[in-house]
Amino acid sequence: MASEKPFRMVTCTAPVNIAVIKYWGKRDKELILPLNSSLSVTLHQDQLRTTTTAAISKDFTEDRLWLNGMEVDVGQPRLQSCLREIHRLAQKHRSSDDDGDGPPRLSYKVHVASENNFPTAAGLASSAAGYACLAYTLARVYGVEAELSEVARRGSGSACRSLYGGFVEWHMGERPDGRDSVAQQVAPESHWPELRVLVLVVSSEQKPMGSTVGMQSSVETSALLQFRATSVVPARMAEMIRCVRERDFAGFGELTMKDSNQFHATCLDTFPPISYLNDTSWAIMHLVHRFNAHHGQTKAAYTFDAGPNAVVFTLEDSLEDLVAALRHCFPPESNGDKFLKGLPVRPVTLSDELKAALALDPTPGRIRYVIATKAGPGPQVLDDPDCHLLGPDGLLKPAAGSPSLGCPLPS
Ligand code: DP6
Repeated sequence: MASEKPFRMVTCTAPVNIAVIKYWGKRDKELILPLNSSLSVTLHQDQLRTTTTAAISKDFTEDRLWLNGMEVDVGQPRLQSCLREIHRLAQKHRSSDDDGDGPPRLSYKVHVASENNFPTAAGLASSAAGYACLAYTLARVYGVEAELSEVARRGSGSACRSLYGGFVEWHMGERPDGRDSVAQQVAPESHWPELRVLVLVVSSEQKPMGSTVGMQSSVETSALLQFRATSVVPARMAEMIRCVRERDFAGFGELTMKDSNQFHATCLDTFPPISYLNDTSWAIMHLVHRFNAHHGQTKAAYTFDAGPNAVVFTLEDSLEDLVAALRHCFPPESNGDKFLKGLPVRPVTLSDELKAALALDPTPGRIRYVIATKAGPGPQVLDDPDCHLLGPDGLLKPAAGSPSLGCPLPS
């Protein structure tokens, strides 16, 4: 009989994803089943990622959770829902390295610590990366080998798309039990190496309404949302998949912008209306349209989620010009050298024609900073014990800086 392992610890990372065909509205609030399918690009973890450590031990007396260095209530319904789901899967699928018999690890309490390598306050969608990372890490620590969409989805719908790299579709599914509402990779990140992504962190005073509450209000009051889900999105999904497969940037970009605009139109059609975009978001939209008009083709494309931050897609050969255009129209206020983070972008001088075409009065400080990134891989396991966020006692390591920041991702 195999001996029972008294303690086990696993650390994993997971990426942020940005939808180009948006998920907005649930047909089942409990199971988190969407009204329509959606499609996203997984962003590279070198720039944006969540790291999660999970430890299980027969000596732990209760489940515990630390988020970004602070212990938080482990009783949150969505976290509990993920734990229940992983236990259900664990009973069905035990991996080959499992003990197989004896009192299963399933009865052990779990300690979880999770942190982002980007400021949570920046309003970047951290819940998708967070719950994908939780699902992936729990699966490894409990020895579950199964498709994890259902676990991640119970935390946050969009999280199931962060389980895969590259370009990812979340099938809405048809079954009432949601077993067919799963994420699937359309193409790996290597499929479109020229694609670049700029995350524009916009200055904003107000905290926007959360997506869970916002989308529920849209479901209850917006006729446009119902129309979008049944009559618009199915054809858009097919077209977006074609654009990705054929690396058709003009088609991809135009559809990305139209779908973002329609999502925000459904927010305005919600009663009382919801407004996630601010003046800077609109100025970014104008800049992108003028940039494209100047070039006579779609060279850049914006998309906005439930907040004023923009994500702008472009191709490598337009990246330098686009960043120069952004810096020209939204000059940094004081942190000049920190305006651009992430992938290096060579500074270039804008032509007078392009400056004139942009027709925006430069206003300092409206964009706090820009993160340059690209499409990236799905969740990873970090084998180096130094990367664990929990110590050998299963408690949060002393917060001397951010330990996972120094951990290189497996290449
Ligand atoms: C606008 O996945 O955050 O980012 O399922 O209620 O947790 P819940 O919502 P969430 O909604 C994401 C909405 C969106 C669009 C998208 O990512 O598809």
